Amino acid sequence: LKSKKTIKHIAFIMDGNGRWASKRHLPRNLGHKEGIKAMMRTAKACNKLAIPYVSFYAFSTENKNRDKSEVDGLISLMREHLDSIADDLSQFGARLNVIGDISYFDSDLQNKITNVQRSTQNIEDRVVNIALNYGGRDELIYAAQQYKGSKIDRPLCDFLYTAGQPDPDILVRTGGEKRLSNFMLYQLAYTELFFSDTFWPDFSDKELNAIIDEYYNRDRRFGK
Ligand code: IPE
Ligand code: IPE
Ligand code: MG
Repeated sequence: LKSKKTIKHIAFIMDGNGRWASKRHLPRNLGHKEGIKAMMRTAKACNKLAIPYVSFYAFSTENKNRDKSEVDGLISLMREHLDSIADDLSQFGARLNVIGDISYFDSDLQNKITNVQRSTQNIEDRVVNIALNYGGRDELIYAAQQYKGSKIDRPLCDFLYTAGQPDPDILVRTGGEKRLSNFMLYQLAYTELFFSDTFWPDFSDKELNAIIDEYYNRDRRFGK
């Protein structure tokens, strides 16, 4: 049974950083900083579980509408941590792949993103997608625009940011909300969904393992 359900891709909507910080009377951006630690912990745990594709939703197209100070803070965190994130991932044989419309960011950050991806492009075993200025609807427009000019016999998924990757087997959303908030609208069609009340910075390996155990107990039918 387990082998039939091998996990090829797990995706995370990392929600609850702001509330984690507010609860402690800390600024929201400290919650985001703590969220990066939880992301790296989780990436490592997924690697130990030999899951080849891991995705993290870090900044949505709609998150740009937050207060300028929070958006600026989030972008500073990306600038500050991107190199070390890519470095740490490469330590355990994973390549950082940014998904989303990065043209929104200043050119120095765009270059940083391009460079870290280029410097680790030879790593093939594992991929960690980090979604930055990512929106599922935006991605479908991006895919459709490229599809238009190409042979019509190819599936639309070949043109998504995640082209060539398996669809997520598991989606975990922390922070208590039960919605997708514009994440991987196409890819999540048959994904097993898990919702946790834990605020993302507190997400632990223990909880991850419990989710995975439950996943193995679920019956995936794919409409059959
Ligand atoms: C998720 O945490 C991270 C981002 C969306 C950038 P939030 O910032 O949404 O935290 P809450 O939901 O307000 O607690
Ligand atoms: C989803 O969380 C986006 C990320 C985790 C990056 P949000 O906090 O933005 O979603 P809503 O506003 O609660 O739907
Ligand atoms: Mg939120």
